[in-house]
Amino acid sequence: MVESIYGEYKEKLQLILDNIVGRLSENNDEQYKKTGDKLYEHLIARVKSDESMREKCERRGLEANAYNALHELTDSIGIRIVCSFIDDVYENVRLIKSLPNIEVVVEKDYIKHAKPNGYRSYHMIIKVTAPFPDVCGNDPGEYFVEIQLRTIAMDSWASLEHKMKYKKNIAESELIVAELKRCADELAACDVSMQTIRNLIKYS
Ligand code: GTP
Ligand code: MG
Repeated sequence: MVESIYGEYKEKLQLILDNIVGRLSENNDEQYKKTGDKLYEHLIARVKSDESMREKCERRGLEANAYNALHELTDSIGIRIVCSFIDDVYENVRLIKSLPNIEVVVEKDYIKHAKPNGYRSYHMIIKVTAPFPDVCGNDPGEYFVEIQLRTIAMDSWASLEHKMKYKKNIAESELIVAELKRCADELAACDVSMQTIRNLIKYS
């Protein structure tokens, strides 16, 4: 059997993921009991598979080893939080920042500043302190987690765009790029309208 690219840290990654997801979902349940509204609709969480991590190292010109997988690359642990409304995305960001043992290292707001292709999401890389060593020899250890936050509309666009982009090996024509962008912008306009309607209902 080939050893995991994560080496002895492999099982720790799942522990860290479970811990954060546990904390997020407790907050979500509490909020739902208190207000009847969820902070997020659903989330998906994964430890990047050995195969994808090896492939990513190769793509980045890095040797496939635990140090590069856990320290040079920052998405061995990934969480995608899908929210109903735009304001909920920012509420989740605020909440994540307030969690103990977490430090935000990178933040990219692709909602306020959409990518040229229309992609929208809020991205964060956080550093989590864990009660066991890491690949750099720190104890307590520090582990990176990539968090993507989006609305349902942004998520549906990203899933479809991803599916189409990676399934077909054709060069994207100008028309395809423009049409995908148009769909992203239409969905974004709907998100803004839905947020406005929600505020009207909530504060009426
Ligand atoms: P990688 O894209 O993962 O190599 O990292 P990066 O440093 O370029 O980070 P970035 O924040 O641009 O993107 C990280 C992740 O966001 C990707 O792995 C995707 O899951 C998602 N993402 C970014 N851009 C797009 C996009 O145009 N379309 C879709 N569907 N997903 C995107
Ligand atoms: Mg990218």
